[in-house]
This record gives sequence, C-alpha cells and structure tokens, in this order.
Amino acid sequence: MKLSNEQKQLLIDKALEARENSYSPYSNFCVGAALLTADGEIILGTNVENASYGATICAERSAFCTAITKGKKDFVAISILGAKKGALPESLCPPCGMCRQFMVEFCSSDFVVLLYDGKNVVEKTLGELFPEVFKL
Ligand code: THU
Repeated sequence: MKLSNEQKQLLIDKALEARENSYSPYSNFCVGAALLTADGEIILGTNVENASYGATICAERSAFCTAITKGKKDFVAISILGAKKGALPESLCPPCGMCRQFMVEFCSSDFVVLLYDGKNVVEKTLGELFPEVFKL
C-alpha cells in the first residue's frame, strides 16, 4: 500500500514515542516500532531486555505480539528506529534477522518497512529485506 507523507511521519513519531519506554539497561540502546494495521490502528512496540540476554525481545516483535494478542491479522507497515539512551536516532536501525523471520510469518512481501536516521525516512519492502523466505 502507498503511504502518504503524513502517514509516514505519524509512524515515525509513534516509534519515537514507543522508544521512550524501552527497557534496555544492558545495551542502553532504545528501539521503537510502530505497526500500522490494515484497519488503521497503530500498535507500538519497544525493546525489552533481560539479564539472560537471549530472552530479550526486540521492538518489532513486541509490536507484533501486541497486535496478534489484539486479534489483528492484516498489516500494512512498520516504522523502526533506534539510538542510544538519551540520544536521537543518527543512523538507520534495520530489523535484525530474527525480526525479519518473525514478520514474514504475518506479512506479505509488499509490507512496508520505514527506517529513520534522524533526517530521512527510508522506505523498504519486507521482500527487499528478506527475499528468501523459510516457511513450512
Ligand atoms: N533490537 C531491536 O529492538 N530490534 C532490532 O531489530 C535489533 C535490536 C534491540 C535488542 C536489544 O535490546 C538492543 O536492540 C541491542 O541489540
């Protein structure tokens, strides 16, 4: 789906808002995500770390888990951004491999991924980020 500039800006603003609640005492890297559902809802996610590092949940998966819990099934776009605690984003924060795999479970290849480096919004599709999909 083609997003307007206003929709993109709103998704970036919501990811910045989500990032405020990041629980990241180990990396001090705060990530925010805002997931747009087909019915127009924006669902936020942030990273939640754990003393057992592998138990950490990324912002993207956090947003998807909330959305699935709310009964959402169709997704249009997600914005993702990150930076050190207290700083604003200065570089892109593309989704990790685990999150890419997680997203293809629920989204088609034209699902939009918006990345933000503090100045520019970069638009990708999930198909571009993760072309060879493992599915059962
Ligand atoms: N992180 C995310 O939230 N999303 C990603 O796609 C990459 C990494 C988080 C996990 C961890 O809390 C911190 O960034 C540093 O790896």
